[in-house]
Amino acid sequence: MIRVGIVGAAGKMGRALCIAALDDPDIELVAAIGRSKTGMRVAELVGRPDTDVRLSDRLETLLDANVDVALEFTSPDSVMGNARWFLDHGVHSAIGTTGIGAEDLAELRSRAEAGPANMFVGDAFSVTDAVGRHIAKIAARYIPNVELSETHPPTKADAPSGTCVRTAQELARVGASSPKAASREIIPGARGGEIDGIRVHSLRQWGGPGFEEIRFSLPGETMTIVLTPWSREPYANGALRVAKAVVNRRGFTYGFESLLGLD
Ligand SMILES: NC(=O)c1ccc[n+]([C@@H]2O[C@H](COP(=O)([O-])OP(=O)(O)OC[C@H]3O[C@@H](n4cnc5c(N)ncnc54)[C@H](OP(=O)(O)O)[C@@H]3O)[C@@H](O)[C@H]2O)c1
Repeated sequence: MIRVGIVGAAGKMGRALCIAALDDPDIELVAAIGRSKTGMRVAELVGRPDTDVRLSDRLETLLDANVDVALEFTSPDSVMGNARWFLDHGVHSAIGTTGIGAEDLAELRSRAEAGPANMFVGDAFSVTDAVGRHIAKIAARYIPNVELSETHPPTKADAPSGTCVRTAQELARVGASSPKAASREIIPGARGGEIDGIRVHSLRQWGGPGFEEIRFSLPGETMTIVLTPWSREPYANGALRVAKAVVNRRGFTYGFESLLGLD
């Protein structure tokens, strides 16, 4: 049994994680940290009677509960403070919050590699996402012209999404770029943002949790890879897979694809 504490437990991913953890016979949910709903029973939060854990706003609760791994799904503003706390207190962690910048990632990597607490960071703990991006990197060798779009609900904190930023960076690294367009922007921003030479378009509309399209083109032909999660369950299950792995994975690991042998 791996004892996990969920940080950001009252959020959308946090609640999906609580349910996935309660359903997993190899995982024991022993702590839940939230900024709001403090004192509330997780049983009430997620409609499951089989847990006595209550929401706490103190990270020290993770130590009191003797967690093996902390799962962190909060916000870009909170994640670094929490990550540094895990490293300071020797707590292994699986960090799913997106939006960690390159400099901050480098700090986490060097500290995790030097200290006793293992850390696994990834912006999409899903099999289809990892495989889809892997295929896109192969495609980019033959079809280097690409534009990206991501669609999420209007409540999403960041634009573009962290996963879309990473897709752009990874595709740019293997030589992809957006075609030079003759189009003059009549409305600023009409051509989207640009990351390492790749155009990225963020659509905000109500609907599912969000999806990403990787659009390749050559004169006269196109190919689109669409990554569509239908619920948060795949990410929650992926995060538990990461939690089980990080206990024995010394130092720092980045990206779910490394668990699938795709890196
Ligand atoms: N890696 C992956 O596979 C994956 C998959 C999906 C999403 N994500 C990422 O996971 C993060 C969370 O997504 P979400 O949809 O669950 O967002 P959300 O619904 O806004 O939930 C975030 C929760 O974190 C809480 N929180 C913020 N700072 C905190 C802190 N310092 N201590 C404790 N709790 C804190 C928030 O509390 P309040 O209610 O008080 O604001 C909120 O309940 C985002 O960065 C998202 O992009 C990653």
